[in-house]
Amino acid sequence: MSYLQNAARELETILSGREVRIFAVETSCDETAAAVVQNGRVILSSAIFSQIGLHKAYGGVVPEIASRSHAEKICLVADSALKDAAMDFDGVDAIAVTSGPGLVGALLVGVSYAKGLAFALSKPLVAIHHIESHICANYLTHPQLDPPFACLVASGGHSHIFYVGEDDSYSLLGCSQDDAAGEAFDKAARLLSLPYPGGPGLDDLAEDGDENAFRLPVPRTAGRYDFSFSGLKTAFAGIVRKMQANPEALPRADLAAVFRKAVVGALVDKTVLAAKENGIPVIALAGGVSANRLLRKRMREACDANRIRLYMPAPELCGDNAAMVGAAAYRKLKRGQIDGLSLNASPSIRLA
Ligand code: KG4
Ligand code: ZN
Repeated sequence: MSYLQNAARELETILSGREVRIFAVETSCDETAAAVVQNGRVILSSAIFSQIGLHKAYGGVVPEIASRSHAEKICLVADSALKDAAMDFDGVDAIAVTSGPGLVGALLVGVSYAKGLAFALSKPLVAIHHIESHICANYLTHPQLDPPFACLVASGGHSHIFYVGEDDSYSLLGCSQDDAAGEAFDKAARLLSLPYPGGPGLDDLAEDGDENAFRLPVPRTAGRYDFSFSGLKTAFAGIVRKMQANPEALPRADLAAVFRKAVVGALVDKTVLAAKENGIPVIALAGGVSANRLLRKRMREACDANRIRLYMPAPELCGDNAAMVGAAAYRKLKRGQIDGLSLNASPSIRLA
């Protein structure tokens, strides 16, 4: 029997309603991750090797170093996910993998590994879009949550507002016209001499600063629900440069707080506007930036004020991990959507 015939037979038993354990892999950028997720909602294990230490010296992700490190670590991380879930590959019902977008060499490591595993185990293979997986992290933190809702996805490469339909469909309501929110945080952090990735460090530094110490322009965009962060970043760079004559006296905490307030303000205002104007009573957050403390606080306040229900992933599920890939794959499997062994990495595929 061919691989596809075997996988289709397995899928049939999955659709009959039994417990499903998905082994998921994520290698789209600088985290090598593997996880076991049960029924799309329960994390049995989630192993992550972060490459931050390898890229730090370069101030950003070096694609060649990323791919080589993924290739080196993927088997170790996979073994550790299985061990933590107290199972072996015989207990796996399906394999899930991020197939894009991301760094092509990095994606290829995960995709090749997952295809090999699916073939060896004769189990269904499910390819997952990276943004979709970030959105699905919410299903792990909130087992009762189901679409429809509006979702702000803010990460290093993306700033999008999606409408997630009841049928798990995605439509784009707004997006950044230039830099992503995480990218803007990382660039501002570099100006404040914070190590890569600067978002979390800037968030920490901002806690001790005065967010009204300086004025930054309010970004203007053509679309009502779109973002623009590059003007903000340029204005911020101008303020920092002017003050840099005396680096000792640089009010780094104030500067971090002012920048954080400006980015968070745009993210909250546009997302709440999109939800209100489109009659969507539920908002979810997703992506690395959704770990930002001020974003979580201001979004909560804005949603409460507008009687909108808000769902946020647990902070440890905001960044890249494989558990969210398993959560997304379960929903695809339940719709009978599986992939063949011709699956390839798609470095710039769109979600909607
Ligand atoms: O989702 P993610 O882990 O990877 C991508 O898919 O890009 O997001 C990483 C981004 C980085 O830009 C990082 O600086 C940012 O999320 N980030 C934060 C915080 N934690 C991570 N930005 C602001 N505040 C944070 N607490
Ligand atoms: Zn991500």
